[in-house]
Parts: sequence; C-alpha cells; structure tokens
Amino acid sequence: MIAFRDVQKYYGDYHALRGISAEIRAGEFFSLLGPSGCGKTTLLRTIAGFEDISSGAVLIDGKDMANVPANKRPTNMVFQSYAIFPHLTVAQNVGFGLRRDPRSKAEKDKLVEESLEMVGLTGYGARAAHALSGGQRQRVALARALILKPKVLLLDEPLSALDRKIREQMQVELIKLQREVGITFVLVTHDQEEALVMSDRIAVMFEGEIAQLADPETLYRRPNSRRVADFIGVMNFLPAKVTGESGDTITAEVAGLGTLDVATSQVSMAPAGDNAAVGFRPETLTILYEGQQATDREAPGTIDEVVYYGDMTYYDVRLDGMEKPVRISMRNVFGRPVLDVGTRTRVSWSPGALVLFR
Ligand SMILES: Nc1ncnc2c1ncn2[C@@H]1O[C@H](COP(=O)(O)OP(=O)(O)OP(=O)(O)O)[C@@H](O)[C@H]1O
Ligand SMILES: [Mg+2]
Repeated sequence: MIAFRDVQKYYGDYHALRGISAEIRAGEFFSLLGPSGCGKTTLLRTIAGFEDISSGAVLIDGKDMANVPANKRPTNMVFQSYAIFPHLTVAQNVGFGLRRDPRSKAEKDKLVEESLEMVGLTGYGARAAHALSGGQRQRVALARALILKPKVLLLDEPLSALDRKIREQMQVELIKLQREVGITFVLVTHDQEEALVMSDRIAVMFEGEIAQLADPETLYRRPNSRRVADFIGVMNFLPAKVTGESGDTITAEVAGLGTLDVATSQVSMAPAGDNAAVGFRPETLTILYEGQQATDREAPGTIDEVVYYGDMTYYDVRLDGMEKPVRISMRNVFGRPVLDVGTRTRVSWSPGALVLFR
C-alpha cells in the first residue's frame, strides 16, 4: 500500500530521515515506534504530503507521490491534539470534509450517522463539540477522518493525551474499528506497550533510521540489537563469553549461569561490539517455591528487591556468582506468599529463552 524507497529528509543541516526503506501492506495496522525526536512524525507527514522529502520516493498504491499534493492523496490524518471545531456540533464536525460534496443533505446525514456509529457516538450528532470529554473528542476526530473513506488513515499519537483507562479502552476500540473498516492504519507512538497491543507490524526507529521492522512477537522475543531490546520492555543483559561454535550451536559462558548452548536462531544480528551478552526477559525466569522442580536449568540466589504490583511482583534476584541482580516477574497466585528481601531462593531458567548479543 505504501512504499518508502531510500527516503532522506533534511531540515537545513539536520538529517531527520536517513534512508528509510520499508513497505506497509494494505489492510495492515502498522506502527512507527521510537523515542522523541527520532523522526516518526516526519515520516508520517511524508505519507500525507505535508512534508517534502529531500531524496528517495514515497509510493502509495504503486504510484509515486512526488508531485501529488496532500489534498489529492488517498490519506487522512488524525492528530494528537483534538483538532475539532469547538463552535460546531458533533455532526457538523464529522461532516466537515463533505461540505463541497455534491450528494444530497439526506445522504450526507446518513454518512455522518454511520461514522458516528463506527466510533461509538450514536446519538451525539446534535451535541456541541466543546461539550465533550477528551476521549469523545478524539472519537469525533476519527469519525471525521473515516467519513472520507481514505485508503490510509494516519494517526499521530492520537491517544497520548488521554488518561490510562480511557486510552486502553480506545486502543481496543481502534483495533476493532480497523478490522471492521479494513483500511490501512499507520500509527505513530512512543509507547511500546501501545505499539505491541495494537500493531500487525512495528517499525522501531532511532535517529531517523528504522532499527528493526517486525511483528510484535518477533520484536519482543528476537530483538536484533540491545537498543531495540531495551526500548521494547525490560530485558536483563548478562555479560557472556562465547567459547565455542559448532554447526547450529554456540556455546557461551555466563557468570552465575555456567556454560550454555544456544541455537544460532537465538543470536541477534547486530554486533554488540567487544562485549557479548545474553538477554532474558523478566518473565522467562521463574522463582521456584519449596518442592518445585526446575523445568530446565536452575541457579541459586538471594532476593535483593521486591516491587509489588497487585497482579504481579517484580523481584531483583542476585544469582550466586553474578555481579548485578536480574529482574524476574512473577504472577501473583492466591495462597502463594510474596517473598521478602534477603530470602534465599532458586531460579528456574532455560537457555532456549535467551537472546545472544555478540
Ligand atoms: N520543521 C522543522 N525544522 C527543523 N527541524 C525539525 C522540523 N520538524 C522536525 N524537526 C526535527 O526533526 C527531528 C524529528 O522530528 P519528529 O517530529 O519527526 O520527531 P518524533 O519522532 O515525531 O518525536 P516526538 O515523539 O517528540 O513527536 C527532531 O529532531 C526535530 O527537532
Ligand atoms: Mg511526533
């Protein structure tokens, strides 16, 4: 649906997009994820035609957009701040893009009603737009974008101004809406959880480049660099020494864990420089309670820190022979006590769950 071909963008001397090449499929929920200033909004605006590019090409539906102005592109954009007109009614806001449309008033009213229904605002048409909550305003902005039936909907942090509960609710509604209408969504966010929850695929960006483009599970389980791993959730990095390599297996030495074999498929592509490391997600390590057996390997250690979250507890455990503690997340289960700082414990782990950065 959308193709970037070596897109470069300079603002004066500042190199904002540094050779972006990627494709976004039709009907996909695609996210651009990265820290503030990495170029997400700039890249999104090149799709909409609000931003010229310095070189390269942006194609939509196979057509080069170089000389196509924003208002002639099959895209529509929803912004972070609710850019709706407070002095108009909800229905007038939603129908705004149709004001020069030749269809009859009755037909337009019907389209407005359908759009409002899509975003869960049936019956709100006559309401003044200023008399809406933040979440409702953002729904109006969505309805207004959708009524024009764009092939691509561009969303620049549309939920970031909402509080957590409403945001999570809107995330689920947006996913449902996207499935219903079937159009391509491109979402900009700096919230990794939001990207993981909502996307079919995610492009992780740093400093004007795409560091990794993959589906959420691949990004989480097989990040291709320490930087991506660090940005997407929490990962424990333990210094490792590669001691052997044969066929599809690499042998490494990790203080506190001993010798372990990993498959080459578990090796991150980007070189980590001189210092190899293994990475574990907190939920791939398990604290063993009395009488429990490790499913694979086990290591003894002492609990350093306990952070209780209600449904989960995060433990920092210093494994014997390790310099720094590792973070372990445990789901709290009725009847199982939360452990205290200083408790001696055993930790179950599996070489199959780690990523080797080398
Ligand atoms: N009109 C402009 N003139 C000069 N520099 C700009 C302009 N617009 C953006 N930049 C710079 O380009 C870089 C990328 O900006 P962009 O808005 O794309 O970042 P972003 O990833 O969307 O960040 P955020 O998460 O904070 O919105 C930033 O360093 C920014 O300062
Ligand atoms: Mg931005």
